[in-house]
Amino acid sequence: MNKINSLSPPQSIILAIESSCDETSAAVLIDGKVRSNVVATQTIHQKFGGVVPELASRAHQQNIIPVVREALENAKINKNQLTSIAYTKGPGLLGALLVGSSFAKSFALALDLPIIEVNHMQAHILAHFIEDKKPNFPFICLTVSGGHTQLVVVKNYLEMEIIGQTLDDAVGEAFDKTAKNLNLPYPGGPLIDKYAAIGNPLAYQFPIVEMPELNFSFSGIKTAFLYFLQNNTKKDPLFIENNLSDICASIQYTLIQILLKKLKKASLNTGINEIAIAGGVSANSGLRKTLLEEGKKLNWNVYIPKLEYCTDNAAMIGMAAYYKAIEKQFSSQQSSPEAGLLF
Ligand code: KG4
Ligand code: ZN
Repeated sequence: MNKINSLSPPQSIILAIESSCDETSAAVLIDGKVRSNVVATQTIHQKFGGVVPELASRAHQQNIIPVVREALENAKINKNQLTSIAYTKGPGLLGALLVGSSFAKSFALALDLPIIEVNHMQAHILAHFIEDKKPNFPFICLTVSGGHTQLVVVKNYLEMEIIGQTLDDAVGEAFDKTAKNLNLPYPGGPLIDKYAAIGNPLAYQFPIVEMPELNFSFSGIKTAFLYFLQNNTKKDPLFIENNLSDICASIQYTLIQILLKKLKKASLNTGINEIAIAGGVSANSGLRKTLLEEGKKLNWNVYIPKLEYCTDNAAMIGMAAYYKAIEKQFSSQQSSPEAGLLF
């Protein structure tokens, strides 16, 4: 056996697979520590302005074996040393999930290993336990991705309660659709972030629709951005080209204000000041900066994941699987992935 710890042999060596959307990823975790995390991002969707589900499934098929092989090699682990195999059960694109789950189940069957199903959104939150600065329970996590916008009270590793969420589009979708309208390729979030960094966030104002309780809505604002762009390009065909940074900065500022307002309300309602963000949009530099500044003012302990653990990755799936394995929450070979899975 490979020598990992000279004092005692590892108890848990998990191979984790993530294939819910457009990243094929595999990671190896030894006793809860990430030893490798390989992510193959599918670039084929760029020209379509969004993820094309069938193309995503095909790309996962092409990527999965090389990605798993690389993850095992990087961790210096032989497949016979594995103690369990984890995969994303959902939510996600069904065809994409099926590639990861079928691979994981077949590999587990061949190696006679238990399987662990992981909820993708729980995994985004548990990415906070990969690094050393870990939040204390209970904490609030604002989980912001391409498919979800949720406020979650995290009571323990596997005990979470959604206290607010979007009633229509996700904030990542608002970033991506707006970018598409600005003629930027998919995924537009990182590009809006890049241009926003050199723009004036107060150059343009947009109406914010108040949502009840801790819920969000992004479909109205997404349409407002579209009309704003249409009206201005009618008057000046070069409006976008000449004002791209200011447009991106103003749109990003508005989206961050919506998120922060509800996060503050969630903290006030629950009395919790341990505050975390997770998911692809938590990579946004404006959101990260605003959260740190507001957190200081409000006496929050703020937790922000490393960039590589914000967007989809298998390390976070492995982290969630590690805690599930401790609780002996293994799954049956008969279970199937679920596109619209909640916690
Ligand atoms: O968590 P994730 O990788 O996949 C899902 O579970 O959906 O999130 C992807 C989303 C996309 O909408 C992408 O545009 C957004 O995260 N994103 C960003 C940034 N990086 C990724 N949005 C704003 N700023 C960024 N820097
Ligand atoms: Zn995700």
